[in-house]
Amino acid sequence: MLLLRLSSWLLLLVCLDPFRHEVPGALASSVPSDAKTLVWGPGLETDIVLPARFFYIQAVDNSGRNLTTSPGEKTFEVKIVSPSEQFTRIWIQVLDRLDGSFLVRYRMYATYTDLHIQILLKNKHVAKSPYILKGPVYHEGCDCPQHSSSLWEAHMHCPQSFPQIDRDLSFYASVDPDRNAQEIPQRFGQRQSLCHYTIKDNKVYVKTFGEHVGFRIFMDAILLSLSRKVQLPDMEFFVNLGDWPLEKRKPTQMIHPIFSWCGSNNTRDIVMPTYDLTESVLETMGRISLDMMSVQANSGPAWPEKNATAFWRGRDSRQERLELVKLSRAHPNMIDAAFTNFFFFKHDESLYGPLVKHVSFFDFFKYKYQINIDGTVAAYRLPYLLAGDSVVLKQDSGYYEHFYNELQPWEHYIPIKADLGDLLEKIQWARDHDEEAKKIALAGQQFARYHLMGDKIFCYYHKLFQEYAKLQVTEPKIREGMELVEQPADDLFPCFCHRTQAKDEL
Ligand SMILES: *[C@@H]1O[C@H](CO)[C@@H](O)[C@H](O)[C@H]1NC(C)=O
Ligand SMILES: *[C@@H]1O[C@H](CO)[C@@H](O)[C@H](O)[C@H]1NC(C)=O
Ligand SMILES: *[C@@H]1O[C@H](CO)[C@@H](O)[C@H](O)[C@H]1NC(C)=O
Repeated sequence: MLLLRLSSWLLLLVCLDPFRHEVPGALASSVPSDAKTLVWGPGLETDIVLPARFFYIQAVDNSGRNLTTSPGEKTFEVKIVSPSEQFTRIWIQVLDRLDGSFLVRYRMYATYTDLHIQILLKNKHVAKSPYILKGPVYHEGCDCPQHSSSLWEAHMHCPQSFPQIDRDLSFYASVDPDRNAQEIPQRFGQRQSLCHYTIKDNKVYVKTFGEHVGFRIFMDAILLSLSRKVQLPDMEFFVNLGDWPLEKRKPTQMIHPIFSWCGSNNTRDIVMPTYDLTESVLETMGRISLDMMSVQANSGPAWPEKNATAFWRGRDSRQERLELVKLSRAHPNMIDAAFTNFFFFKHDESLYGPLVKHVSFFDFFKYKYQINIDGTVAAYRLPYLLAGDSVVLKQDSGYYEHFYNELQPWEHYIPIKADLGDLLEKIQWARDHDEEAKKIALAGQQFARYHLMGDKIFCYYHKLFQEYAKLQVTEPKIREGMELVEQPADDLFPCFCHRTQAKDEL
């Protein structure tokens, strides 16, 4: 018995040996070169302040070819030091994306003057390492807003515009804060969970309506975080904290601007990134569960090894989800879909049972085909599903998040009908067109890697506030009953903001 265990251990060790599968011919192309390897990203720039800063490494071999498989998790070593400090309180993580590229994230707990980012391959500097971030490099907690919003956007490399913002705001020729302060609470304040925010002199004020206002923490947090980075325009707006968008009137009627996490074809709410994605950006490191960075290092086995069954887990929050589980039971060789929780509908074990154990999100990516299907509103998991390297089968839906407008069917995902009528057919298509399915999977992943990372989420909020503020025709005011939302006072390493000092000297 002991012997048997020992030998199975040995076998395991052999299997884990990363060099075991290397054949001499393949060797040349799997060894990264320190000179040719590419390094880029926002985390190499002083002025891109993010809760978790990040940059990328693409391993390239001597002949200039990108590696497409991992050269090993520990291939690159990253050190970040500040020459003027003995210790730097910086948390660093190198995430192996298993496709020859790495995502490096780091969180600074204090502000430093000059940072040297060293990227090493077997003790040799990679690409242009060390990267030197000059001047004060602020950490997330530092309250040091850039006074010029256009300069901030330029530093952040923000897109010139976001089509969704243009579309949402196109329904409003102007916005009247005085009128809205009267009318919006009258229309929605009784039944809905609403927050009324005023930004004045870059300070955040709020008044809440309704009982369930716990979700305002996400809005408070993004507003405080943004206002530490850039001077926000004076403005007044309402945020809907509930799932469902609210403004159902036709654009020809008197419509009210309401900011919501989710939009729909039948409403005129102004969409923001969901609270889930927002939280993932703000708390990236503290979060144990899912965030847009860790998911990139946990996207399962390589494409050919993924299971060709379509996969889904979730709650019973919509009729089509019941249909999906029924379909799965009828076609288990095509779909593995099951409920982890029953809450909304009557739990009929004979039709929709049995409940299954919660599956780690990362395990979803053992499967090639991911089904994205609405819950109460849009399924907020789509950003994470796209970021993995499976292909997403997305249900047509009247609900959308801030980025759906830029997603293209057949380019970034495989579309399925709202009633799932063609789901089996689409899975079969993907099975019959493996190369094309893989291409769509990678395009979706590329989309998520570019559009749904922290820097772009900050850009989106900022652009939205800028554009909205321009529409205001009366002066935003701190209204009766509003309270100041204070910056957290628990920062252990207070920073010195050179911008406020410069102002004082004038
Ligand atoms: C190699 O990877 C970099 C970074 O992702 C990319 O920009 C470049 O196009 C790739 N080169 C080739 C030849 O695929
Ligand atoms: C693929 O997944 C299905 C459903 O989860 C499972 O029944 C099947 O055994 C898996 N196939 C392989 C080859 O692992
Ligand atoms: C919602 O609107 C989009 C864009 O116009 C459209 O493609 C989609 O089919 C609509 N879906 C539903 C279910 O209304």
